[in-house]
Amino acid sequence: MNGTVPPPFDPRCFHRRIEVYALPPAAAEVIRLTQSSEVDADDVAAAVEKDPGLALRLVQMSNCSLFARLEQICSVGEAVRFLGFRAVRLAAVSLLLKALRDDDNGDPRQEAYWRHALTVSVAARHLSRAKRVWHPDEAFLAALLMDIAVPVILKMDLPCYERMLGPDRGHPDPLEEGDCLGAHHGDLAADCLEKWGIPDHVVAAVRGHHFPETVVTPPEARPFAVLLEMAHGLADCLCRGEEGVSDMAARVGRFWCGELGFLPEELGPFLDHLTEEVAAASAVFELDVDVSPDWAALAAHDFPPPSVAST
Ligand SMILES: [Fe+2]
Repeated sequence: MNGTVPPPFDPRCFHRRIEVYALPPAAAEVIRLTQSSEVDADDVAAAVEKDPGLALRLVQMSNCSLFARLEQICSVGEAVRFLGFRAVRLAAVSLLLKALRDDDNGDPRQEAYWRHALTVSVAARHLSRAKRVWHPDEAFLAALLMDIAVPVILKMDLPCYERMLGPDRGHPDPLEEGDCLGAHHGDLAADCLEKWGIPDHVVAAVRGHHFPETVVTPPEARPFAVLLEMAHGLADCLCRGEEGVSDMAARVGRFWCGELGFLPEELGPFLDHLTEEVAAASAVFELDVDVSPDWAALAAHDFPPPSVAST
């Protein structure tokens, strides 16, 4: 032992750091308005127009190839009406993510984080759509935000965290994280989202995304937390190759058959679609995520059925 004591993790220091990336006032206003049932598209458009970057992003989103449309959209009002409030809220929050992304200085651990975050988010949206558990756009947003503490903690240069993440994992084990920091990223992210006025069911699902069995209120948040945990599993599966696929098949049998009605035999085709969607989303969200061709091969991998699921 050399007697060097690693710097302890201070949650106040974390919150000060993440506030540096705080949402621009116009984006915060848009998030608040899009949660209200008493505002219309014109109110939201007026708030969007206060932030030229957000306004441009919405018009670009509404004209992008994912949202097929014959006529060009040129005004913010039209874009808000066309995309809907949920997509507008997503675009507002994505400003925060873009600020974090722009500040990663090409760090390979941060690159791994973004690759993982985008894959998890696309998996959450895809699962929501397939199982009709949650609105797909909101699931995507929640998944993008649930690990948001990770890149901020990485910037705090804590040796134990470095070891935990390694060069290419992109995501910590929450139990190891609890031992190392005394807190895990789900709680830290949820505390921030609560402060930013994100709805309670999203906050609760984010808080419990690694421990969905602990989510009690609001009651609708529990299946969302299960879905986020499964999306995490799917992303790990793609990152860890063959080993990940067989682990995932076992977990589907053990945990998710009953909760989400997801069957082990659905896993291969699901991963195949997920690969395509990650590629499309990486272009739209300008995250420059490398989609490895190996994923497609793994998605088609013929894994054995999980023994625990058999009766
Ligand atoms: Fe996580």
